Amino acid sequence: MRKYKKLTEKQNELLEIAKGGLRRINILHGSVRSGKTWISLVLWCIWIRNMPADKAYIMTAKTLTTLKRNCLDLLEVLAGKNNFKYSLSKKEGELFGRRIYLEGVNDSGAESKIRGMTLQGAYCDEITLFNEDFFNMLLSRLSESEAKLFGTTNPDNPNHWFKINYIDRRDELDFFIMEFLIDDNTFLDERYVEELKKEYTGVFYKRFILGEWCSAEGLVYPMFDKEKHIVSEIPEQFGEAEYYISIDYGTLNPCSMGLWRLDNSCAVRICESYYSGRQKREQLTDEEYYRMLEDLAGDKAIKCVIVDPSAASFITAIRRHGRFAVRKANNNVLDGIRITGTLLQSGKLLFSEDCKDAIREFGIYSWDETKEEDRVVKESDHAMDDIRYFCATIAAKRLL
Ligand SMILES: Nc1ncnc2c1ncn2[C@@H]1O[C@H](COP(=O)(O)OP(=O)(O)O)[C@@H](O)[C@H]1O
Ligand SMILES: [Mg+2]
Repeated sequence: MRKYKKLTEKQNELLEIAKGGLRRINILHGSVRSGKTWISLVLWCIWIRNMPADKAYIMTAKTLTTLKRNCLDLLEVLAGKNNFKYSLSKKEGELFGRRIYLEGVNDSGAESKIRGMTLQGAYCDEITLFNEDFFNMLLSRLSESEAKLFGTTNPDNPNHWFKINYIDRRDELDFFIMEFLIDDNTFLDERYVEELKKEYTGVFYKRFILGEWCSAEGLVYPMFDKEKHIVSEIPEQFGEAEYYISIDYGTLNPCSMGLWRLDNSCAVRICESYYSGRQKREQLTDEEYYRMLEDLAGDKAIKCVIVDPSAASFITAIRRHGRFAVRKANNNVLDGIRITGTLLQSGKLLFSEDCKDAIREFGIYSWDETKEEDRVVKESDHAMDDIRYFCATIAAKRLL
């Protein structure tokens, strides 16, 4: 294995502890970019070289693509190309002469494939993204003598299965855990760390920067501030402006549409339409909604309309008219909320005072504290959803 000149103090500390003996389950948790993956792969290499060559080993992540991106590319550098070769299509690799199976937890067939295995070692990237059944099964397959599991994760909700059933029971289990914080990683440029810290707000800051297992509580966007985010005049334009409309579709539930101007400095929600079929006691048809969209667009050249991905019939209706390009929105709720929060925090997401329903919802939109996982209260979330669609699908690319 290549000799790496330097490790962070924390990484060295882990290797020292590991010399004294590893446990059956070995977990590194904590902030993003804190050096967990790096040192866990170094440890994986050191360990595997001392293990039998004729046993089976596995490396897993949410998908094969994330496994490659987060781990395999780095492993190639750390171990050297002579010592680590792999084929994603064969889902197999060889590390220091040991055969390594590669699996994406979410990929179809992963579970049934693992069910029949007898494993010596497993490496898991981002464990909180695994489902519990898969993880339990993986552990049950680690049945060779001295079998071990290595894994990394960022913190999540304190009610997450991995926290409750593993971390909190560490004393009952043959379990080692070590926390890494972003400031432990002395290889990162100070300015980069400063920027990274600004990218996360609220619950995401606590988890991904401070490394805390904490629940999402209170308002989803506590940083929304009428003084800062509501403008009475549209700000001066910087660079080429593009116009977009984002839509959260509902028939009985409200349908919310926002018209955006995006330039190099910020996104402004210029105006919006909000229609509640339940409140008005009359549901609109897709054609009537289409007219609402046309009215909102006026004579502006709209680069693209971003629509709730589940609104299949309305997407077809918009396409049929041929005026607007349509895109299904990225609907990963937590990622979208994190991105929207970052844009608000940096003052890059602004609202004209006409956007009454969006402004009203900012004051109500909350985390659902009765749920065990991160969930928002599914009321008054319609403008919130269309804003999130726009931020995650379009604005993030230009403003972050
Ligand atoms: N020992 C090291 N030597 C050089 N760079 C390192 C080292 N450890 C971490 N890094 C740098 O820090 C970045 C983040 O480390 P990583 O292990 O991916 O963090 P985490 O898994 O905690 O998010 C890496 O991409 C790499 O640039
Ligand atoms: Mg990592």
